[in-house]
Amino acid sequence: MDSKEKQEGLSRRDFLKMSAAAGVGIAIGASGLGAIMGTGKSSSTKTAANAADADKGDSIPMYGEHQAGIITPQQTYMYIASFRITAGDKANVVRLFRDWTKFSDLSTSGGTMKTGDNPMLPPSDTGETLDLPASSLTVTFGFGPTFFSDAGKDRFGISHLAPRYLKDIPRMARENIDASISGGDVCVQVCAEDQQVAFHAVRNFIRLSTGYATLKWMQEGFISATPGKTPRNLFGFKDGTANGLHDSASGYDDVVWAGKDEPAWLQGGSYMAYRKIRMLLEMWDRTSLTDQEATFGRFKESGAAFGAKGEFDTVDSSKLPDTSHVLLAKESKQSIHRRAYSYTDGVDPRTGNVDAGLLFISYQKNPEEQFIPMLRLMQNKDKLNEYTMHVASALFACPRGLREGQYIGQNILEG
Ligand code: HEM
Repeated sequence: MDSKEKQEGLSRRDFLKMSAAAGVGIAIGASGLGAIMGTGKSSSTKTAANAADADKGDSIPMYGEHQAGIITPQQTYMYIASFRITAGDKANVVRLFRDWTKFSDLSTSGGTMKTGDNPMLPPSDTGETLDLPASSLTVTFGFGPTFFSDAGKDRFGISHLAPRYLKDIPRMARENIDASISGGDVCVQVCAEDQQVAFHAVRNFIRLSTGYATLKWMQEGFISATPGKTPRNLFGFKDGTANGLHDSASGYDDVVWAGKDEPAWLQGGSYMAYRKIRMLLEMWDRTSLTDQEATFGRFKESGAAFGAKGEFDTVDSSKLPDTSHVLLAKESKQSIHRRAYSYTDGVDPRTGNVDAGLLFISYQKNPEEQFIPMLRLMQNKDKLNEYTMHVASALFACPRGLREGQYIGQNILEG
């Protein structure tokens, strides 16, 4: 590999070698091989965040200043998977991240590896998206505290590059956290307008991790809304209204994007806070509309705050009940960018009730200042606690966006 290729981390030769080694041909969607290798790719005409007009066939570029999937308008389906790295040395972690990056590039552009020329080998792609478009697929990577240092051990010689605020979310009142579905070294959030496309991506990340990492936990979520309208959660309330308050480049700089006080690889990235929150639907459905609305301090149908008419009218805190969710959020005087998905996990065998809730995900530049005090206030006082239980938790640092030729985590592993 010449020095330029080496610097870029991923070369055309490299890519073709991977394809050849796997015995594959390459079937590519609308964008072509040139697109996959970065020549004339559609990413130059659109930025990752600019996906408001996304439809099923659209591809959202994965390259840019910020990773896609953070301020990208929410797609309908999401999978989030967290891995434990089992590779014992840095070189193997690099190998895994390069493979993941190549696959991300290919699948977000609507491409897929063909099933293979050699019938004696397993097909190199699982195949379920061969006839499907990119479907606004986005892939967002984040690193957990244990990636940098695990039980005091600097496994990959990168602990000096750990972000300022990356540590487990502290224990909260009233939570019942299951460690087996919390935390992890690396997470991948995959979102798409087509569930099969989203699952294909997460499945292939898992497949490519064989020998390098093991899957710790995985969750699937959904959220649906008429374009331009705020989606509703499983309590039937509009969820995400207040995101509009920081919907501008300067707003995202203030709320979401990590700044100069962080290691270079994180500047322009963000922290992802994750809570799996069980919602007691049966109990909620027996609660009067008056009590439901008092829980949030907003009206169910319109989404307007108490004392206001429209969903986006200014909130007057003096009109909100003392323990209402929105009042507590306002009292914290902090903003976060929420990007939550609903989940259903079948039946709770102990009660016969539906196991369902919210995969709460928020992005913020400083979890210690923004997210944690807000969570603490809510866990102590929120009327919503009567109907919810936090069962899983994680914090990940999501690097800034990639330039073509770079691989995810390169600035950490080669930093
Ligand atoms: C199952 C759990 C939860 C449900 C059902 C829920 C639901 C809602 C709803 C309906 C709203 C009002 C509309 C809006 O602005 O989006 C809201 C607002 C908000 N929620 Fe939650 N939420 C949950 C958990 C959390 C958690 C864990 C946090 C953070 C610690 C949080 C932070 C916020 C914030 C910051 C607002 C905006 C308030 C404002 O400025 O108007 N929520 N939530």
